[in-house]
Amino acid sequence: MQHLVDTDQLTLKQIWKILEDTASFKSRRPAPLLSGKLLFTLFFENSTRTRSSFEVAAKRLGAEMVHLDPSRSSTKKGETLEDTFANLCAMEPDGVIIRHSENDTPSRLAEMERVPVINAGAGNYAHPTQALLDLYTLYEWFGGELEGLRVAIVGDIVNSRVAASDIRLFRRMGIQVSLVAPKPFMPPVTDLPQFEDLREVLDDVEVIISLRAQLERHKKPIFDDYAAYARRYCITEELLEDRGIVIMHPGPVMRNIDLSDEILEDPRCMVLDQVKNGVYVRMAVLKLLLLDVRNTPMDA
Ligand code: CP
Repeated sequence: MQHLVDTDQLTLKQIWKILEDTASFKSRRPAPLLSGKLLFTLFFENSTRTRSSFEVAAKRLGAEMVHLDPSRSSTKKGETLEDTFANLCAMEPDGVIIRHSENDTPSRLAEMERVPVINAGAGNYAHPTQALLDLYTLYEWFGGELEGLRVAIVGDIVNSRVAASDIRLFRRMGIQVSLVAPKPFMPPVTDLPQFEDLREVLDDVEVIISLRAQLERHKKPIFDDYAAYARRYCITEELLEDRGIVIMHPGPVMRNIDLSDEILEDPRCMVLDQVKNGVYVRMAVLKLLLLDVRNTPMDA
């Protein structure tokens, strides 16, 4: 049984297979490869993109999906998450997709070895399918050439599970990552190049990934005034000038703090391409975990 808690559980061969399957699904609608399969989603945090993207992906492959609303589940009556999970597994789903505020929740459930667990975002630890869809967006845009690409991640890096997963996956794929953030948003320990001034990296990167300030994870307000933050870190046309830098953001975007209104309309901005690719990437992930791994369990 294979889980996806983060992308380090995937072999390089599996990552390339996900990229290839994504491209194939995007070019031609596939047969219902997962017909008869059943997935549960358990989202303990809000989501617009990830939950609906998994549902569209599952349905396009012919799988069925049941959403458990944690605010109405028996976890509210004192049932442990492990017991809730065990009860759902007793209904014999083929996989459970979970989002949770705690970093270790997906790995705890995966260790129970009942069904494949897919992490749809855990604390500030990992968001593997976002990292895979970010990787695919680069793979497609740069014609399959990932090695040596230079990416700056800008914003609330220390609180971002997207940044954490992107950094681990991108480095493995030979992509050079720089971090740009004010001190409170910078991870305390990193061997990656760090910058406080966004202008310092503009002539040395092909890609900027902007991040939202993760206000829900701040124990106390970090900045009183996000207008002052935006003056230094918001990606604007004035800042980019005519540089051909690709702009990405996992969403939700805080307009005119992370990305300006004009940049969101700019052809260099890939935000909606990322969302579109996310469906095809999740189709490839579901195919890998629910179909391919079962047929070739020792995939190297
Ligand atoms: N990128 C992302 O995780 O978005 P949602 O929170 O809307 O799922």
